[in-house]
Amino acid sequence: MRSLRTSLRTSLRTGSFLAALATGAALLFTAPAAHAADTPLRDLAAAKGKVIGTAVTGSKLTGTYGDLAGAQFNSLTPGNAMKWGSVEPTQGSFNWTEADQIVAFAQAHNQQVRGHTLVWHNQNPGWLTNGTWTAAQLGSLLQNHIATEVGRYKGKITAWDVVNEPFNEDGTYRSDLWYDTLGADYIANALTWAHAADPAAKLYINDYNVEGVDAKSTALYNLVKDLKGRGVPIDGVGLQAHLILGQVPSSLQQNIQRFADLGVDVSITELDVRMALPADSTKLAQQAADYKSVLNACVAVTRCAGVTVWGFTDSDSWVPSTFPGYGAATPYDENYVPKPAYHAIAEALGGTTTPPPTGACTATYSVSSQWNTGFTGQVTIACSGASLSSWKANWTFGAGQQITQAWNATCSQSGTAVTCTNASYNGSVPDGGSVSFGFNGSWSGSNPVPTVTLGRA
Ligand code: G3I
Repeated sequence: MRSLRTSLRTSLRTGSFLAALATGAALLFTAPAAHAADTPLRDLAAAKGKVIGTAVTGSKLTGTYGDLAGAQFNSLTPGNAMKWGSVEPTQGSFNWTEADQIVAFAQAHNQQVRGHTLVWHNQNPGWLTNGTWTAAQLGSLLQNHIATEVGRYKGKITAWDVVNEPFNEDGTYRSDLWYDTLGADYIANALTWAHAADPAAKLYINDYNVEGVDAKSTALYNLVKDLKGRGVPIDGVGLQAHLILGQVPSSLQQNIQRFADLGVDVSITELDVRMALPADSTKLAQQAADYKSVLNACVAVTRCAGVTVWGFTDSDSWVPSTFPGYGAATPYDENYVPKPAYHAIAEALGGTTTPPPTGACTATYSVSSQWNTGFTGQVTIACSGASLSSWKANWTFGAGQQITQAWNATCSQSGTAVTCTNASYNGSVPDGGSVSFGFNGSWSGSNPVPTVTLGRA
């Protein structure tokens, strides 16, 4: 199984697809399906002048995870590594290890970094949240934190989520350490301090449930308008987009456009689309449509800088632990197989890859009878969660066998290489269905089961 996964991952990266499983005398082969790497997402996005990013965990940036993060995305967001609780767990004692690692990886892979995040109600160190601070003390702590962190990465961060999640659902300010102690101006001050530390970085306010036009996004709109009017350095708004299957707000593009018209950039900063588990082909198709809607909305508005997914694989997603029973929210499954959502992103970015079947078709070779010099063989092609409209099965005989006659397929043999294609009446293999073809052949010495490759004719 380990070698299957290894070859699967390798083939997914190269765009080919061949994996084998042996079960008794039969061999199963999945159909060529996932042309995941036809054109990397980052190349498609770059051609449109857009960012396609992912949140990452620094410790995972090796192996397949690292390969895909580097090859497919042109921007990385540290999922946790730059949060206050991560970088200064003890007052005055800093740990930049993971943040530095992610920045170095991004630079080595010619990627942008989105800094996340400087002022938030969550994931703050205990010493900060448990302390008793005057407004002057807390303001000073915040200013120093911003100066230290933004200064450390000056010139290396394209955009900062300076302020994260400042609003309640009704558009009032969230009651938290910052607002309760410093008042609403903590936002303007944080932006001003970040600008002082790195004047080139784009400075954002980032929030969730602000994707459509509603009370919360209108509060954000009014805040940005006010900040711009006061000359506070605000460059963009981040729409997190932690979405539920089938619930992309219909006013998403209109909302992006109204912020653009205000004179700020917009980024989709944390896109994922969660579903009730288990996933099935219907849900995955809806998820692909949802991803495509979000990408399309961003592509349609010039000032939408791009889209970042909040983890690119289901093995690195915050969803299952936060919403028990929900998951499968990202574009790759837990084994790094691209899902329909991956192909939807590619298509929205102008890619021309054909979405693969969401399941697999397999070809099973068996010898149904054998006598002194001859044998009858059979191949059954079965699909589950996928379908075929035409097929061909290739194999190489390993012991000099020779096909003498075939039925329900057109078979040809050249040397040891056999190719069988569907007959006019059985090219279609529906999801849940199967077709078989048979043949007679000659053999001597031994008659080993060959390795079959299944493809579209
Ligand atoms: O690092 C500790 C580890 O030592 C410990 O063993 C483990 C046990 O629970 O916890 C680990 O910390 C977890 C951390 O992620 C790193 O994995 C925290 O418990 C967990 O709460 C934390 O969750 C993060 C979450 O923010 C916290 O609110 C998610 O990974 C992160 O993806 C998520 O990201 C947020 C964005 O920053 C803002 N927008 C919403 C988004 C999703 O919640």
